[in-house]
Amino acid sequence: MNFDINNIIRTNIKNLKPYSSARDEFKGEASVYLDANENAFGSPLATSYNRYPDPMAYAVKTRLSQIKGVPPKNIFLGNGSDEAIDILFRSFCNPGVDNVIIVPPTYGMYEVSANINDVELKRVNLTADYQLNLEGIAEAIDKNTKLIFICSPNNPTGNSIHREDIETLLANFNGIVVIDEAYINFSRQKSFIQELTEYANLVVLQTLSKAWGLAALRVGMAFASEEIIEVFNKVKPPYNINEASQQLALEALQNTNQVNDWIKETLKERDQLVINLKNLDFVLDIYPSDANFILVKTTAADAIYNFLVENGIIIRNRNKVELCEGCLRITIGTPQENQTLIETLKSYKG
Ligand SMILES: Cc1ncc(COP(=O)(O)O)c(C=O)c1O
Repeated sequence: MNFDINNIIRTNIKNLKPYSSARDEFKGEASVYLDANENAFGSPLATSYNRYPDPMAYAVKTRLSQIKGVPPKNIFLGNGSDEAIDILFRSFCNPGVDNVIIVPPTYGMYEVSANINDVELKRVNLTADYQLNLEGIAEAIDKNTKLIFICSPNNPTGNSIHREDIETLLANFNGIVVIDEAYINFSRQKSFIQELTEYANLVVLQTLSKAWGLAALRVGMAFASEEIIEVFNKVKPPYNINEASQQLALEALQNTNQVNDWIKETLKERDQLVINLKNLDFVLDIYPSDANFILVKTTAADAIYNFLVENGIIIRNRNKVELCEGCLRITIGTPQENQTLIETLKSYKG
């Protein structure tokens, strides 16, 4: 691998002088703050939010650093990991010139972000068993390929991507390999976070939206080399993680036991749901899952989806997604919700 960030960063971003906020220019404690045009009286709320938050969310990063074993300087926080995905495009891909590779079926935002940023998208489909087509990827790479997105465990298929295949990409690609680990807490596989010191071209995405139960707070993480994180911090909006989210995330991050219990319960429920679904005659296949959802191949995806909607149960219809024909994606719910789903499905007459 011959990775040099100077070869891939956009020139305008390299030369960018980032916005310097009031809170960037004065750090420390003072008794009177008249520097940021805030309302000095307070907020019309029980809690005061009249002051701008820490632009770097340092307290949250420090706590994450303890949990993940990665220094704060290697952590970027985004308004959801979707923001980190967008910032990857804006930092490294010249609109109308560069391209990125995705490996469908996969998470939809890589494509949307590419389109928003006017960046060409190359699709190299996963194989029939939802693994990487390494030869196809090697053929698709050209001198303008900046990013390769790998989602593992993959959404919507649920499986993890073979570690050795990802390592092959990391070792041979001169651009950035993005590994989206949104569902890693449910996986039997190890995170790639520990490989950051090994690969300068690695960006790992994680989120507080899934196992951590904080989707509404919009806190996503990117882990990468210090030089990549510095670029993200230059490009991000100054106060991208709001104060309520910072405070609540920090509080939630003390509660690892609760989250670990939920993960265990989710995995138990996943196993049970698989057993129950297998008994239904319109279920053709259930793909192995390392995530908090399962992909189920059925004889009549659209009809089953509509039937569930009529009964107030919403799942994700993936029937129109290439390589997922006939498939429904079902999130693992509480025991009660899963029971309701199964009871309802038993009453489906195809
Ligand atoms: C694979 C994957 N990555 C990222 C996200 C977005 O996460 P966030 O809520 O952190 O923006 C999702 C959400 O469904 C996802 O499935």
